[in-house]
Amino acid sequence: MTDFLSEILVNEKIAPDFYRLRFTVPMDTEILPGSFFSLKDELPTGTLLRRPFAFSDAGKGEAEALYQIRGKTTHALSLRKPGSRFQILLPCGNGFPIDKIAARQPVLIAGGVGLGPILFLYRSLSRKNREPLLVAGFRSASLIPHSQLPASTVICTDDGSFGVKGSVLDGVREISAKQPLFFACGPTAMMKALAFEAAQRQADAFVSLEAMMGCSLGACMGCVVPICGGGYKRVCKEGPVFDAKEILWTSM
Ligand SMILES: Cc1cc2nc3c(=O)[nH]c(=O)nc-3n(C[C@H](O)[C@H](O)[C@H](O)COP(=O)(O)OP(=O)(O)OC[C@H]3O[C@@H](n4cnc5c(N)ncnc54)[C@H](O)[C@@H]3O)c2cc1C
Ligand code: FES
Repeated sequence: MTDFLSEILVNEKIAPDFYRLRFTVPMDTEILPGSFFSLKDELPTGTLLRRPFAFSDAGKGEAEALYQIRGKTTHALSLRKPGSRFQILLPCGNGFPIDKIAARQPVLIAGGVGLGPILFLYRSLSRKNREPLLVAGFRSASLIPHSQLPASTVICTDDGSFGVKGSVLDGVREISAKQPLFFACGPTAMMKALAFEAAQRQADAFVSLEAMMGCSLGACMGCVVPICGGGYKRVCKEGPVFDAKEILWTSM
């Protein structure tokens, strides 16, 4: 893990309150889909904790993230111009276990801002000719970042204003995938619903979880999630990607 002074290369709006950030990373750092970086707040916001963001792409000394304005840090970040610098810790966490795919059909599912890491995984699997299927859900048509989505994406909207009406699980039911293996990132409620759907289909699902973080280093235990059979795991260290069967969803 490296602490790195990164330079912003691109910071552009892709939908309302939704931005694509491109920035420099150390040339020799291996960055896997599903891993994240942690932004040390040097912005004049008064917040002290690091802020985690998943990579949406990486290679050749550059990386990207898609972020949504939620609070002070993300708002301040949206005002940053190319050429300005920020301190990041990277790479953090594990990644999606693509070695588990074997003969199965990878079905990638993104909810809202969970799109970033899922797009990274989509590109990575496409380069390996694994032909992933992609389902992405948004609240409404106006919030869809069309410029980022592959043409074959099954798009779902909660209000039915674009694509399939309903949740990403309604989108998943629209596609036929023999022996699906699910990879997903999105809100906890969506991950929970997917875990139950996968269990019913006797399929495996690997989910990237969001948790409030303190250190992003595995030291503070601020990001733990309950595990079946007792105990907890840290989202920043053992995660953020977990086998859905590991998580004690009834306590989430
Ligand atoms: C592993 C991981 C990867 C992430 N990847 C992305 C990403 O790719 N793009 C992106 O936009 N966001 C991502 N997030 C969420 C991101 O960290 C928060 O949006 C960010 O920390 C908000 O900071 P803020 O100061 O702007 O908002 P704050 O003022 O800190 O919070 C604003 C609101 O957002 C909620 N919130 C803040 N942080 C989190 C969090 N970590 N999880 C759930 N709710 C939170 C707060 O409860 C509050 O209601 C990720 C989080 C994790 C744990
Ligand atoms: S954020 Fe401190 S242990 Fe995970």
